Amino acid sequence: MRKLLFLILIGLLFACSDEESSKIEDTTEYRKISSQFVKKLGSVLMKEMQTGGPMRAVAVCADTAQELTNSVGQEFGVDISRVSLKSRNPLNAPDENEAAILKRFEELKLSGELTDTTEFAQMISKDGVNFIHYMKPITTQPICLTCHGSEKEVSPEVENLIKSKYPEDRARGYKIGDVRGAISIYKQI
Ligand code: HEC
Repeated sequence: MRKLLFLILIGLLFACSDEESSKIEDTTEYRKISSQFVKKLGSVLMKEMQTGGPMRAVAVCADTAQELTNSVGQEFGVDISRVSLKSRNPLNAPDENEAAILKRFEELKLSGELTDTTEFAQMISKDGVNFIHYMKPITTQPICLTCHGSEKEVSPEVENLIKSKYPEDRARGYKIGDVRGAISIYKQI
């Protein structure tokens, strides 16, 4: 009888682990890459805002955000990007997977369940290749409103500069705490 119970237990464990196989238990590595990337980008932004103001920061952001994204990706051997459902740069538009998870983050925000530790990781297959896909939400802070806020918060000169560089800009009208977008990491396995 004990042996039978034991076998049933083992069977259950396997059944569970099978079901869970598409979820990633340990996200430490991805969380680290994500936070290093956010820090790097944030420090460039802060430095430019403090020394040259928002006009200079827009110019620098426009030139370096994509570059920095690529170099961090190469450094860690992953494909990393910043994505948003309302992107400023069309290069930051989400793919289907990313859009679904961004929507989930927005739902969590609406129900008051979005926290500093919210993240998402899964194993996926794209064109027959397996990837770990990790996402971490990026929320809107007061400083972000200078360039992503409402008409009252974005000065006309900043607005004009942004429009000239990003004619398809949709990244406006955000409020503090809103999900501005997410870091998305794909790692081939
Ligand atoms: C000085 C203006 C400025 C400020 C301040 C600013 N951003 Fe941006 N943001 C930009 C520009 C310009 C881009 C487009 C960068 C590119 O070409 O990839 C951008 C793009 C983004 C993107 C990528 C998705 C998209 O919309 O294309 C995210 C996410 C983002 N910003 C979040 C933030 C957050 C969070 C803050 C506050 C911590 C912030 N930004 C502050 C100018 C700014």
